[in-house]
Amino acid sequence: MGKMWSGRFGESASKLLDKFNASLDFDKKLYKYDIQGSLAHAKMLNARGILSDEEYRDIEKGMEQVLEEIESGQFTFDIADEDIHMAIEKRLTELIGDAGKKLHTARSRNDQVALDFRLYVQDHNRIIQELILNLVEALVETASRHTETMLPGMTHLQHAQPINFGYHLMAYASMLRRDYERFESSYERNNLSPIGCAALAGTPHPIDREMTARNLGFDAPTLNCLDTVSDRDFALEMLFNIATMMMHISRFSEELILWSSSEFGFVTLSDAYSTGSSIMPQKKNPDVPELLRGKTGRTYGNLMALLTVMKGLPLAYNKDMQEDKEGTFDSVETAEISLTILTEVVKTMRVNVRRMEDACRVGHLSATDLADYLVEKCGIPFREAHFITGRAVALAEERGVDLSELPAEELKKIDGRIGKDVTKFLGLRHSMNARDSQGGTSTARSVEQIEAMKEWLERKNARAG
Ligand code: ARG
Repeated sequence: MGKMWSGRFGESASKLLDKFNASLDFDKKLYKYDIQGSLAHAKMLNARGILSDEEYRDIEKGMEQVLEEIESGQFTFDIADEDIHMAIEKRLTELIGDAGKKLHTARSRNDQVALDFRLYVQDHNRIIQELILNLVEALVETASRHTETMLPGMTHLQHAQPINFGYHLMAYASMLRRDYERFESSYERNNLSPIGCAALAGTPHPIDREMTARNLGFDAPTLNCLDTVSDRDFALEMLFNIATMMMHISRFSEELILWSSSEFGFVTLSDAYSTGSSIMPQKKNPDVPELLRGKTGRTYGNLMALLTVMKGLPLAYNKDMQEDKEGTFDSVETAEISLTILTEVVKTMRVNVRRMEDACRVGHLSATDLADYLVEKCGIPFREAHFITGRAVALAEERGVDLSELPAEELKKIDGRIGKDVTKFLGLRHSMNARDSQGGTSTARSVEQIEAMKEWLERKNARAG
Protein backbone atom coordinates (compact mmCIF):
# COMPACT_ATOMS: atom_id res chain seq x y z
CA MET A 1 0.00 0.00 0.00
CA GLY A 2 1.43 3.39 -0.98
CA LYS A 3 1.29 6.51 1.16
CA MET A 4 -2.10 7.93 1.96
CA TRP A 5 -1.12 11.21 0.35
CA SER A 6 0.64 9.61 -2.65
CA GLY A 7 -1.99 10.51 -5.28
CA ARG A 8 -0.08 13.41 -6.80
CA PHE A 9 3.36 11.82 -6.53
CA GLY A 10 5.17 10.02 -9.36
CA GLU A 11 8.09 8.50 -7.49
CA SER A 12 7.95 6.84 -4.11
CA ALA A 13 9.54 8.43 -1.05
CA SER A 14 13.18 7.77 -0.26
CA LYS A 15 13.99 5.68 2.82
CA LEU A 16 15.97 8.62 4.14
CA LEU A 17 12.94 10.89 3.88
CA ASP A 18 10.82 8.31 5.69
CA LYS A 19 13.30 8.23 8.57
CA PHE A 20 13.67 12.01 8.74
CA ASN A 21 10.03 12.89 8.32
CA ALA A 22 8.42 10.31 10.56
CA SER A 23 7.22 10.99 14.07
CA LEU A 24 5.85 7.49 14.64
CA ASP A 25 8.74 6.44 16.88
CA PHE A 26 7.67 8.95 19.50
CA ASP A 27 4.08 9.90 18.73
CA LYS A 28 2.92 6.32 19.15
CA LYS A 29 2.59 7.38 22.78
CA LEU A 30 -0.54 9.21 21.63
CA TYR A 31 -2.37 6.11 20.38
CA LYS A 32 -5.03 6.14 23.12
CA TYR A 33 -5.89 9.77 22.49
CA ASP A 34 -5.88 9.27 18.73
CA ILE A 35 -8.42 6.45 19.00
CA GLN A 36 -10.51 8.37 21.53
CA GLY A 37 -10.54 11.41 19.20
CA SER A 38 -11.38 9.38 16.12
CA LEU A 39 -14.29 7.67 17.86
CA ALA A 40 -15.75 11.01 18.98
CA HIS A 41 -15.32 12.37 15.47
CA ALA A 42 -16.97 9.31 13.91
CA LYS A 43 -19.87 9.45 16.33
CA MET A 44 -20.49 13.06 15.36
CA LEU A 45 -20.21 12.25 11.62
CA ASN A 46 -22.81 9.56 12.21
CA ALA A 47 -25.13 11.92 14.12
CA ARG A 48 -24.87 14.40 11.24
CA GLY A 49 -25.69 11.74 8.65
CA ILE A 50 -22.20 11.77 7.13
CA LEU A 51 -21.51 8.18 8.27
CA SER A 52 -24.23 5.52 8.31
CA ASP A 53 -24.99 3.60 11.50
CA GLU A 54 -23.32 0.56 10.03
CA GLU A 55 -20.20 2.47 9.08
CA TYR A 56 -19.98 3.92 12.56
CA ARG A 57 -20.39 0.48 14.13
CA ASP A 58 -17.63 -0.88 11.87
CA ILE A 59 -15.33 1.92 12.92
CA GLU A 60 -16.09 1.31 16.57
CA LYS A 61 -15.38 -2.41 16.29
CA GLY A 62 -12.29 -1.90 14.15
CA MET A 63 -10.86 0.62 16.61
CA GLU A 64 -11.43 -1.81 19.45
CA GLN A 65 -9.25 -4.31 17.66
CA VAL A 66 -6.59 -1.72 16.79
CA LEU A 67 -6.43 -0.73 20.45
CA GLU A 68 -6.07 -4.32 21.51
CA GLU A 69 -3.35 -4.97 18.95
CA ILE A 70 -1.38 -1.95 20.14
CA GLU A 71 -1.74 -2.77 23.82
CA SER A 72 -0.83 -6.42 23.39
CA GLY A 73 2.22 -5.52 21.30
CA GLN A 74 0.91 -7.17 18.14
CA PHE A 75 0.54 -3.97 16.13
CA THR A 76 3.20 -3.50 13.44
CA PHE A 77 4.54 0.01 13.52
CA ASP A 78 5.90 0.83 10.07
CA ILE A 79 7.90 4.02 9.83
CA ALA A 80 6.66 4.49 6.25
CA ASP A 81 3.26 5.35 7.79
CA GLU A 82 4.87 8.52 9.14
CA ASP A 83 2.87 9.03 12.29
CA ILE A 84 0.46 7.42 14.70
CA HIS A 85 -2.54 9.00 12.99
CA MET A 86 -1.83 7.34 9.65
CA ALA A 87 -0.64 4.10 11.19
CA ILE A 88 -3.94 3.67 13.01
CA GLU A 89 -6.07 4.76 10.06
CA LYS A 90 -4.23 2.39 7.74
CA ARG A 91 -4.73 -0.57 10.05
CA LEU A 92 -8.38 0.35 10.59
CA THR A 93 -8.95 0.39 6.83
CA GLU A 94 -7.22 -2.99 6.45
CA LEU A 95 -9.62 -4.34 9.05
CA ILE A 96 -12.95 -2.78 8.02
CA GLY A 97 -12.49 -1.54 4.47
CA ASP A 98 -14.40 1.45 3.10
CA ALA A 99 -15.79 2.82 6.36
CA GLY A 100 -12.19 3.29 7.51
CA LYS A 101 -11.54 5.47 4.48
CA LYS A 102 -14.48 7.74 5.38
CA LEU A 103 -13.26 8.46 8.92
CA HIS A 104 -11.06 11.33 7.79
CA THR A 105 -14.03 13.27 6.35
CA ALA A 106 -14.14 16.85 7.70
CA ARG A 107 -10.82 16.34 9.45
CA SER A 108 -7.16 16.96 8.76
CA ARG A 109 -4.09 15.67 10.52
CA ASN A 110 -3.62 19.27 11.61
CA ASP A 111 -6.65 19.36 13.87
CA GLN A 112 -6.19 15.66 14.63
CA VAL A 113 -2.70 16.13 16.05
CA ALA A 114 -3.76 19.31 17.84
CA LEU A 115 -6.52 17.26 19.47
CA ASP A 116 -4.43 14.21 20.39
CA PHE A 117 -1.64 16.29 21.82
CA ARG A 118 -4.02 18.47 23.80
CA LEU A 119 -5.79 15.41 25.21
CA TYR A 120 -2.39 14.06 26.28
CA VAL A 121 -1.40 17.33 27.94
CA GLN A 122 -4.75 17.73 29.72
CA ASP A 123 -4.71 14.13 30.92
CA HIS A 124 -1.19 14.41 32.32
CA ASN A 125 -1.96 17.81 33.77
CA ARG A 126 -4.50 16.06 35.99
CA ILE A 127 -2.06 13.28 36.87
CA ILE A 128 0.55 15.84 37.88
CA GLN A 129 -1.99 17.75 39.99
CA GLU A 130 -2.74 14.53 41.85
CA LEU A 131 0.97 13.80 42.42
CA ILE A 132 1.56 17.34 43.73
CA LEU A 133 -1.21 16.83 46.28
CA ASN A 134 0.49 13.63 47.47
CA LEU A 135 3.80 15.44 47.93
CA VAL A 136 2.20 18.37 49.75
CA GLU A 137 0.43 15.86 51.98
CA ALA A 138 3.71 14.15 52.85
CA LEU A 139 5.33 17.52 53.62
CA VAL A 140 2.41 18.61 55.79
CA GLU A 141 2.44 15.30 57.63
CA THR A 142 6.15 15.60 58.46
CA ALA A 143 5.77 19.31 59.22
CA SER A 144 3.02 18.66 61.76
CA ARG A 145 5.37 16.43 63.76
CA HIS A 146 8.12 19.05 63.86
CA THR A 147 6.66 22.42 64.78
CA GLU A 148 8.77 22.39 67.92
CA THR A 149 11.94 21.08 66.31
CA MET A 150 14.25 24.06 66.07
CA LEU A 151 16.88 24.54 63.41
CA PRO A 152 18.86 27.58 62.31
CA GLY A 153 16.97 29.57 59.70
CA MET A 154 19.48 30.96 57.22
CA THR A 155 20.14 33.78 54.84
CA HIS A 156 23.24 33.66 52.63
CA LEU A 157 23.55 30.10 53.99
CA GLN A 158 24.62 31.67 57.31
CA HIS A 159 22.81 31.08 60.59
CA ALA A 160 20.24 33.84 60.97
CA GLN A 161 17.32 33.15 63.35
CA PRO A 162 15.92 30.01 64.94
CA ILE A 163 12.91 28.59 63.10
CA ASN A 164 11.19 25.23 63.34
CA PHE A 165 11.50 22.40 60.87
CA GLY A 166 7.76 22.23 60.25
CA TYR A 167 7.81 25.89 59.24
CA HIS A 168 10.72 25.23 56.89
CA LEU A 169 8.85 22.36 55.20
CA MET A 170 5.74 24.48 54.91
CA ALA A 171 7.70 26.91 52.75
CA TYR A 172 8.06 24.11 50.18
CA ALA A 173 4.44 23.07 50.61
CA SER A 174 3.50 26.67 49.78
CA MET A 175 5.59 26.64 46.59
CA LEU A 176 4.03 23.39 45.50
CA ARG A 177 0.57 24.75 46.18
CA ARG A 178 1.26 27.62 43.77
CA ASP A 179 2.51 25.03 41.27
CA TYR A 180 -0.72 23.10 41.65
CA GLU A 181 -2.73 26.23 41.06
CA ARG A 182 -0.75 27.00 37.91
CA PHE A 183 -1.50 23.54 36.48
CA GLU A 184 -5.12 23.94 37.46
CA SER A 185 -5.46 27.29 35.74
CA SER A 186 -3.74 26.02 32.57
CA TYR A 187 -6.12 23.09 32.52
CA GLU A 188 -9.14 25.34 32.69
CA ARG A 189 -7.90 27.83 30.10
CA ASN A 190 -6.99 25.14 27.59
CA ASN A 191 -9.93 22.83 28.00
CA LEU A 192 -11.26 23.62 24.51
CA SER A 193 -11.63 21.23 21.59
CA PRO A 194 -9.55 21.65 18.42
CA ILE A 195 -11.31 18.92 16.43
CA GLY A 196 -13.36 20.07 13.45
CA CYS A 197 -10.94 22.85 12.54
CA ALA A 198 -9.74 20.65 9.66
CA ALA A 199 -6.63 21.86 7.83
CA LEU A 200 -6.86 25.55 8.80
CA ALA A 201 -10.14 27.04 7.62
CA GLY A 202 -12.91 24.79 8.88
CA THR A 203 -14.89 22.49 6.60
CA PRO A 204 -17.89 22.62 4.28
CA HIS A 205 -19.33 19.46 5.90
CA PRO A 206 -22.20 20.02 8.34
CA ILE A 207 -20.24 19.04 11.46
CA ASP A 208 -21.10 19.63 15.11
CA ARG A 209 -18.08 20.79 17.06
CA GLU A 210 -20.09 21.26 20.25
CA MET A 211 -20.90 17.58 20.21
CA THR A 212 -17.32 16.34 19.78
CA ALA A 213 -16.14 18.84 22.39
CA ARG A 214 -18.67 17.55 24.92
CA ASN A 215 -17.93 13.90 24.19
CA LEU A 216 -14.22 14.43 24.72
CA GLY A 217 -14.65 16.24 28.04
CA PHE A 218 -13.86 19.73 26.76
CA ASP A 219 -15.85 22.76 27.90
CA ALA A 220 -16.40 24.03 24.35
CA PRO A 221 -14.81 24.12 20.88
CA THR A 222 -12.04 26.67 20.26
CA LEU A 223 -13.03 29.98 18.67
CA ASN A 224 -10.82 30.34 15.60
CA CYS A 225 -9.59 27.43 13.49
CA LEU A 226 -6.57 29.18 12.01
CA ASP A 227 -5.25 29.82 15.51
CA THR A 228 -6.21 26.37 16.77
CA VAL A 229 -4.21 24.29 14.31
CA SER A 230 -1.10 26.39 14.90
CA ASP A 231 -1.46 26.86 18.65
CA ARG A 232 0.85 25.06 21.06
CA ASP A 233 0.37 27.40 24.02
CA PHE A 234 -1.21 24.58 26.00
CA ALA A 235 2.04 22.61 25.70
CA LEU A 236 4.17 25.67 26.44
CA GLU A 237 2.18 26.32 29.60
CA MET A 238 2.68 22.70 30.62
CA LEU A 239 6.42 23.05 30.01
CA PHE A 240 6.62 26.29 31.95
CA ASN A 241 4.56 24.90 34.83
CA ILE A 242 6.82 21.85 34.98
CA ALA A 243 10.01 23.90 34.75
CA THR A 244 8.91 26.15 37.63
CA MET A 245 7.83 23.20 39.74
CA MET A 246 11.14 21.44 39.06
CA MET A 247 12.95 24.61 40.13
CA HIS A 248 11.18 24.31 43.49
CA ILE A 249 11.93 20.60 43.68
CA SER A 250 15.55 21.33 42.85
CA ARG A 251 15.88 23.88 45.66
CA PHE A 252 14.40 21.39 48.12
CA SER A 253 16.75 18.72 46.78
CA GLU A 254 19.70 21.01 47.32
CA GLU A 255 18.70 21.36 50.97
CA LEU A 256 18.22 17.61 51.35
CA ILE A 257 21.72 17.09 49.97
CA LEU A 258 23.18 19.62 52.40
CA TRP A 259 21.13 18.34 55.32
CA SER A 260 22.19 14.76 54.79
CA SER A 261 25.91 15.65 54.73
CA SER A 262 28.07 14.96 57.81
CA GLU A 263 28.49 18.71 58.27
CA PHE A 264 24.77 19.27 58.77
CA GLY A 265 23.43 15.83 59.66
CA PHE A 266 19.90 17.26 59.96
CA VAL A 267 18.23 14.39 58.09
CA THR A 268 19.10 10.82 57.20
CA LEU A 269 17.67 9.60 53.91
CA SER A 270 16.30 6.10 54.03
CA ASP A 271 18.54 3.34 52.68
CA ALA A 272 15.83 2.50 50.16
CA TYR A 273 16.37 5.89 48.52
CA SER A 274 20.15 6.17 48.84
CA THR A 275 22.98 4.62 46.88
CA GLY A 276 26.46 3.36 47.63
CA SER A 277 29.85 4.01 46.12
CA SER A 278 31.60 1.46 43.95
CA ILE A 279 34.92 2.12 45.67
CA MET A 280 34.30 3.69 49.08
CA PRO A 281 32.40 1.13 51.17
CA GLN A 282 31.40 3.61 53.88
CA LYS A 283 29.53 5.93 51.56
CA LYS A 284 25.82 6.59 51.35
CA ASN A 285 24.98 9.04 48.62
CA PRO A 286 21.91 11.23 48.10
CA ASP A 287 21.56 10.31 44.42
CA VAL A 288 17.82 10.87 44.34
CA PRO A 289 17.87 14.57 45.26
CA GLU A 290 20.97 15.01 43.09
CA LEU A 291 19.14 13.57 40.10
CA LEU A 292 16.09 15.70 40.83
CA ARG A 293 18.34 18.76 40.86
CA GLY A 294 20.07 17.56 37.70
CA LYS A 295 16.91 16.72 35.78
CA THR A 296 15.56 20.22 36.35
CA GLY A 297 17.91 21.45 33.64
CA ARG A 298 16.37 19.41 30.87
CA THR A 299 12.89 20.67 31.73
CA TYR A 300 14.17 24.23 31.19
CA GLY A 301 15.71 23.08 27.89
CA ASN A 302 12.42 21.59 26.72
CA LEU A 303 10.62 24.85 27.40
CA MET A 304 13.23 26.91 25.55
CA ALA A 305 13.23 24.46 22.64
CA LEU A 306 9.50 24.71 22.00
CA LEU A 307 9.40 28.48 22.48
CA THR A 308 12.13 28.66 19.84
CA VAL A 309 10.36 26.28 17.45
CA MET A 310 7.24 28.44 17.59
CA LYS A 311 8.71 31.92 17.37
CA GLY A 312 9.08 32.27 13.61
CA LEU A 313 6.18 30.23 12.29
CA PRO A 314 3.73 31.79 9.89
CA LEU A 315 0.12 30.65 10.26
CA ALA A 316 -1.01 27.95 10.27
CA TYR A 317 0.47 24.42 10.70
CA ASN A 318 4.13 23.95 9.80
CA LYS A 319 6.04 20.71 10.08
CA ASP A 320 8.41 22.37 12.55
CA MET A 321 5.61 21.79 15.03
CA GLN A 322 6.22 18.06 14.98
CA GLU A 323 9.17 18.97 17.24
CA ASP A 324 6.67 19.82 19.99
CA LYS A 325 6.26 16.29 21.29
CA GLU A 326 9.53 14.70 22.43
CA GLY A 327 10.44 17.52 24.81
CA THR A 328 6.93 17.66 26.21
CA PHE A 329 6.82 13.89 26.77
CA ASP A 330 10.21 14.12 28.41
CA SER A 331 9.19 16.93 30.77
CA VAL A 332 5.92 15.24 31.67
CA GLU A 333 7.63 11.93 32.41
CA THR A 334 10.36 13.69 34.38
CA ALA A 335 7.80 15.61 36.42
CA GLU A 336 5.74 12.54 37.20
CA ILE A 337 8.58 10.32 38.36
CA SER A 338 10.22 13.21 40.24
CA LEU A 339 7.07 13.97 42.24
CA THR A 340 6.51 10.29 42.97
CA ILE A 341 10.00 9.55 44.22
CA LEU A 342 10.36 12.79 46.18
CA THR A 343 7.15 11.97 48.04
CA GLU A 344 8.69 8.64 49.10
CA VAL A 345 11.95 10.32 50.11
CA VAL A 346 10.06 12.75 52.35
CA LYS A 347 7.92 10.01 53.88
CA THR A 348 10.91 7.80 54.70
CA MET A 349 13.59 10.28 55.78
CA ARG A 350 14.67 10.47 59.42
CA VAL A 351 14.70 13.92 61.02
CA ASN A 352 17.61 14.33 63.43
CA VAL A 353 16.08 16.64 66.00
CA ARG A 354 19.19 16.76 68.22
CA ARG A 355 21.48 17.79 65.38
CA MET A 356 19.15 20.56 64.34
CA GLU A 357 18.82 21.92 67.86
CA ASP A 358 22.55 21.69 68.54
CA ALA A 359 23.17 23.69 65.40
CA CYS A 360 20.99 26.46 66.81
CA ARG A 361 23.57 27.06 69.53
CA VAL A 362 26.10 28.15 66.95
CA GLY A 363 26.03 31.58 65.35
CA HIS A 364 24.31 33.74 67.99
CA LEU A 365 20.83 33.18 66.56
CA SER A 366 19.21 35.29 69.26
CA ALA A 367 21.19 38.45 68.47
CA THR A 368 18.12 40.08 66.90
CA ASP A 369 16.24 39.26 70.10
CA LEU A 370 18.77 41.14 72.20
CA ALA A 371 18.40 44.16 69.92
CA ASP A 372 14.60 43.85 70.11
CA TYR A 373 14.86 43.61 73.93
CA LEU A 374 16.92 46.81 74.08
CA VAL A 375 14.34 48.60 71.95
CA GLU A 376 11.26 47.26 73.71
CA LYS A 377 12.33 47.05 77.35
CA CYS A 378 14.96 49.80 77.53
CA GLY A 379 13.59 52.32 75.02
CA ILE A 380 16.88 52.39 73.08
CA PRO A 381 16.65 53.39 69.36
CA PHE A 382 17.13 50.36 67.07
CA ARG A 383 20.41 51.55 65.48
CA GLU A 384 21.99 51.98 68.90
CA ALA A 385 20.54 48.66 70.05
CA HIS A 386 22.11 47.03 66.96
CA PHE A 387 25.52 48.41 67.98
CA ILE A 388 25.24 47.31 71.61
CA THR A 389 24.23 43.85 70.47
CA GLY A 390 27.27 43.76 68.21
CA ARG A 391 29.43 44.36 71.27
CA ALA A 392 27.67 41.54 73.08
CA VAL A 393 28.29 39.19 70.14
CA ALA A 394 31.97 40.14 70.14
CA LEU A 395 32.13 39.33 73.86
CA ALA A 396 30.48 35.95 73.34
CA GLU A 397 32.96 35.18 70.55
CA GLU A 398 35.81 36.12 72.84
CA ARG A 399 34.48 33.74 75.50
CA GLY A 400 33.87 31.03 72.96
CA VAL A 401 30.18 30.72 73.86
CA ASP A 402 26.90 31.42 72.14
CA LEU A 403 25.20 34.73 72.89
CA SER A 404 22.33 32.87 74.54
CA GLU A 405 24.81 31.47 77.07
CA LEU A 406 26.24 34.83 78.29
CA PRO A 407 25.15 35.57 81.86
CA ALA A 408 23.03 38.71 82.40
CA GLU A 409 25.73 40.29 84.61
CA GLU A 410 28.23 40.19 81.74
CA LEU A 411 25.72 41.84 79.42
CA LYS A 412 24.97 44.50 81.98
CA LYS A 413 28.62 45.51 81.87
CA ILE A 414 28.22 46.37 78.21
CA ASP A 415 25.15 48.51 78.86
CA GLY A 416 23.80 49.34 82.30
CA ARG A 417 20.24 49.43 81.03
CA ILE A 418 20.20 45.71 80.45
CA GLY A 419 18.21 43.90 83.17
CA LYS A 420 18.26 40.37 84.63
CA ASP A 421 15.23 39.40 82.59
CA VAL A 422 17.39 39.50 79.44
CA THR A 423 18.27 35.80 79.82
CA LYS A 424 14.73 34.79 79.06
CA PHE A 425 14.73 36.85 75.85
CA LEU A 426 17.94 35.27 74.64
CA GLY A 427 16.61 31.73 75.01
CA LEU A 428 16.38 30.12 71.56
CA ARG A 429 12.89 28.75 71.95
CA HIS A 430 11.70 32.09 73.24
CA SER A 431 13.31 33.69 70.23
CA MET A 432 11.52 31.36 67.82
CA ASN A 433 8.15 31.74 69.50
CA ALA A 434 8.53 35.50 69.68
CA ARG A 435 8.16 35.58 65.89
CA ASP A 436 4.46 35.22 66.22
CA SER A 437 3.29 37.61 63.52
CA GLN A 438 1.06 36.21 60.80
CA GLY A 439 2.97 33.75 58.61
CA GLY A 440 5.82 33.72 61.14
CA THR A 441 7.78 30.82 62.62
CA SER A 442 6.34 30.54 66.16
CA THR A 443 4.99 27.08 66.85
CA ALA A 444 1.47 28.50 67.08
CA ARG A 445 1.76 30.27 63.72
CA SER A 446 3.32 27.21 62.11
CA VAL A 447 0.45 25.05 63.32
CA GLU A 448 -1.93 27.64 61.89
CA GLN A 449 -0.22 27.37 58.50
CA ILE A 450 -0.38 23.59 58.61
CA GLU A 451 -4.09 23.72 59.42
CA ALA A 452 -4.74 26.11 56.53
CA MET A 453 -2.82 23.85 54.16
CA LYS A 454 -4.72 20.80 55.38
CA GLU A 455 -8.00 22.53 54.65
CA TRP A 456 -6.79 23.39 51.17
CA LEU A 457 -5.70 19.78 50.64
CA GLU A 458 -9.11 18.53 51.71
CA ARG A 459 -10.85 20.86 49.28
CA LYS A 460 -8.62 19.78 46.42
CA ASN A 461 -8.77 16.09 47.27
CA ALA A 462 -12.56 16.25 47.43
CA ARG A 463 -12.62 17.72 43.94
CA ALA A 464 -10.12 15.21 42.54
CA GLY A 465 -11.79 12.22 44.20
N1 ARG B 1 3.09 14.04 12.59
C1 ARG B 1 2.58 15.35 12.48
C2 ARG B 1 2.94 16.16 13.72
O1 ARG B 1 3.25 15.57 14.67
C3 ARG B 1 1.10 15.33 12.34
C4 ARG B 1 0.52 16.48 11.59
C5 ARG B 1 0.95 16.44 10.20
N2 ARG B 1 0.23 17.34 9.37
C6 ARG B 1 0.64 17.59 8.15
N3 ARG B 1 -0.06 18.39 7.44
N4 ARG B 1 1.73 17.09 7.67
O2 ARG B 1 2.91 17.37 13.72
